[in-house]
Amino acid sequence: MYAQTVFPTEAHDGTRIARLSLSHFRNYRDVRLELNGPSVVLTGANGSGKTNLLEAISLLVPGRGLRRAPLAEMQHHAREGHWAVAVELDTPHGPLRIGTGRDPEAAEGDRRVIHIDGRNAKSQQTLGDHVAMAWITPDMDRVLAEGPSARRKLLDRLVYSFDPAHAGRVQRYEKALRERLRLLREGIADTMWLAALEDEMAQTGVAVAAARRHMLRQLQSAIAATEGVFPKADLALRGMAEEFLETQAALLVEDRLRAALARTRGDDAQNGTCAIGPHRSDLLVTHRAKQCPADLCSTGEQKALLIAIMLAYVRILAEARNMKPLFLLDDIAAHLDSARRAALFEELRALGVQAWLTGTDAAQFHPLLPHAQHFTVDQGRIV
Ligand SMILES: Nc1ncnc2c1ncn2[C@@H]1O[C@H](COP(=O)(O)OP(=O)(O)OP(=O)(O)O)[C@@H](O)[C@H]1O
Ligand SMILES: [Mg+2]
Repeated sequence: MYAQTVFPTEAHDGTRIARLSLSHFRNYRDVRLELNGPSVVLTGANGSGKTNLLEAISLLVPGRGLRRAPLAEMQHHAREGHWAVAVELDTPHGPLRIGTGRDPEAAEGDRRVIHIDGRNAKSQQTLGDHVAMAWITPDMDRVLAEGPSARRKLLDRLVYSFDPAHAGRVQRYEKALRERLRLLREGIADTMWLAALEDEMAQTGVAVAAARRHMLRQLQSAIAATEGVFPKADLALRGMAEEFLETQAALLVEDRLRAALARTRGDDAQNGTCAIGPHRSDLLVTHRAKQCPADLCSTGEQKALLIAIMLAYVRILAEARNMKPLFLLDDIAAHLDSARRAALFEELRALGVQAWLTGTDAAQFHPLLPHAQHFTVDQGRIV
């Protein structure tokens, strides 16, 4: 059954999902949706399957989706046969079919298969060539209030969409970091081995820091270029490599990081941690109008700052990739007052992206409903 509002298919320069089907995915057995509007609102009771549906969509870009869940977890408990998600996209270059699911032929372990226009894609990275996406989930609500790790990960995730090699660099850096710590903890004083690991950390670490700085600058200029109800966020990066890169060439910063790591071996061995490097960096966010660090802002202000950052990101994505992204906003109305909600809906309409919004109560979406397709989710069924 489809939503009551049917929109004429209009010209647009974005990527939109025109058809979506899920099978055996979490609490969905078989679901098909036909979409022809710019935005989609999903409402329903707690546990009905709203986030599950957004999670399925989030598998259309490289990565493990918005919950970062293992493939087996997404399998419907009570259904035989592997889960699958398939979409027909309406893109500026024409229609495109993408399908992904658990590989039924994987002999052992779990593997995902990806089909793009009927052809097997060799790697997940190929998805990034066709779809751009951003999301805001309730998990991210605490990102501005808690420690640096979540903010660093958020920033790294934003970088991935522009620079797919970033994920590999972060992984290589972290692998060398763990290995160095293991040697130090176990008292293996193999200086050649340690130096090789520190060299890897210096090279990949400085590349990671440089990519973060580039992303930060883009976000800053996108924030500077917009006016609206959402508070402006001042962003800064705190981290040794990131700060050195302000004034020095990357090769020099690599040398400094390499030397600093060699110098701190003794302390790191004693403390069992690695005290310096891009794995310690933080993204500092300040509410500009209030001159207040984000962690001291109210819950609603933090949400508004996060939305402002993500709106800036969506603008950058749309411009840089020349392709408007899909934008998933899970449980978005929580913590926003009615003025901010209305402002958000206005912004989404102005951006012209296909936004997928979820909430428990349709009334929260009142100003958007005349312009969106509205579905009610009920225990893994869409009505
Ligand atoms: N693999 C699975 N198989 C079957 N059901 C699952 C599976 N994984 C999760 N579920 C069920 O999906 C439901 C949660 O769905 P989801 O998180 O999408 O809810 P929601 O509509 O977003 O709710 P809320 O409003 O609380 O955020 C739970 O009832 C959970 O038991
Ligand atoms: Mg949910």
